[in-house]
Amino acid sequence: MPAQTPPANPDTGRMPALTGREIAAAHPTPPARILGLGVYRPRRVVTNEELCTFIDSTDEWIRARTGITQRRWAEPDETLTAMSVQAAAAALADAGIAASDVGCVVVATVTHLEQTPSIAALIAHQLGAVNAAAFDISAGCAGFCHAVALGRDMVQGGSARHVLVIGAERISDFIDRQDRTTAFIFGDGAGAVVIGPADRPGIGPVVWGADGSQYGVIGQTRDWKAFMDEPTGPRPFIQMSGQQVFRWASYEMVPVANRALQAAGITVDELDAFIPHQANMRIIDAMVKALKLPAGVPVARSIAELGNTSAASVPLAMEQMRRTGEAPSGGTALLIGFGAGLSYAAQVVTLP
Ligand SMILES: CC(C)(COP(=O)(O)OP(=O)(O)OC[C@H]1O[C@@H](n2cnc3c(N)ncnc32)[C@H](O)[C@@H]1OP(=O)(O)O)[C@@H](O)C(=O)NCCC(=O)NCCS
Repeated sequence: MPAQTPPANPDTGRMPALTGREIAAAHPTPPARILGLGVYRPRRVVTNEELCTFIDSTDEWIRARTGITQRRWAEPDETLTAMSVQAAAAALADAGIAASDVGCVVVATVTHLEQTPSIAALIAHQLGAVNAAAFDISAGCAGFCHAVALGRDMVQGGSARHVLVIGAERISDFIDRQDRTTAFIFGDGAGAVVIGPADRPGIGPVVWGADGSQYGVIGQTRDWKAFMDEPTGPRPFIQMSGQQVFRWASYEMVPVANRALQAAGITVDELDAFIPHQANMRIIDAMVKALKLPAGVPVARSIAELGNTSAASVPLAMEQMRRTGEAPSGGTALLIGFGAGLSYAAQVVTLP
């Protein structure tokens, strides 16, 4: 069978030459959906009162500026691997999928403190996902939504039949507990979903991007090279320009969310849930207003009890909404993640 002519390169207008042999496509390539969901919440609750023994702040200030009343910080045995394995095992059980049937494990995290190898390889091993490829991605608080997009495309493209997507952070390892500009915001946790074949599409096209001109807006106090060259100073911690992040997220993420709805052919009043990254309650409120979300659509607000758990926040919020009955299994939800990079990703999904 002759190979189909590929489209011209939109930038150059040139047609790529087809000189090689035809490469077989993976068949069948079914639509994808989220089949199962699992989470892990660390045991230790850190209240605003406790936090204010480390920083000069008050419970009232933290509640008013962020909506956060408490967060959870992992204890020594609740390693990033251990939390991820627990969340992933719960997601596999929820989906009714054996670990050996997973074709790929993708972990979104910024708090795996080893440069190499990937934490995904260790998690896959501990789960018994012996047939899985495994790798990590770094897209800050938008990491989970990036990984869901990859998982969808892997299933639809035939690279893997089942993809285990994990968003996990031990961000308490990465904050300076005396820094009053960051210490109160972040929390630890892990969430996982299994993406697999479905009768009809259950994950819409992703709308994503990154604005590297704002690279320094969320980052580290110093890079590891600087620390290695001068190890006497403080080690690197997370830092951010809070107001810049606030403005960017509140205003620039709404068009992204609208484009994700449009790409999925869904209107805002057809949603059964809105599950944005849990960065700040006031950012969530601003987005709800600008999206003109009908009052009856439930909105994830787990930031109040969990703080900002970065790449884990969307699956943790999704699980809370399902457990409390706020959002129905099988309902349609808009997800959006945004954070360091500054990077973002949004898509519409059918809830597991
Ligand atoms: C961090 C954040 C809560 C700070 O709120 P803010 O309203 O921007 O606060 P500002 O930095 O402008 O500071 C306002 C005042 O509060 C004070 N302040 C700052 N941190 C404080 C704290 N922890 N406790 C009490 N007061 C504090 C400042 O000193 C300042 O005082 P001044 O007016 O006397 O100078 C807010 O910017 C935010 O949530 N940004 C987004 C962060 C985020 O989502 N990051 C993750 C993205 S994925």
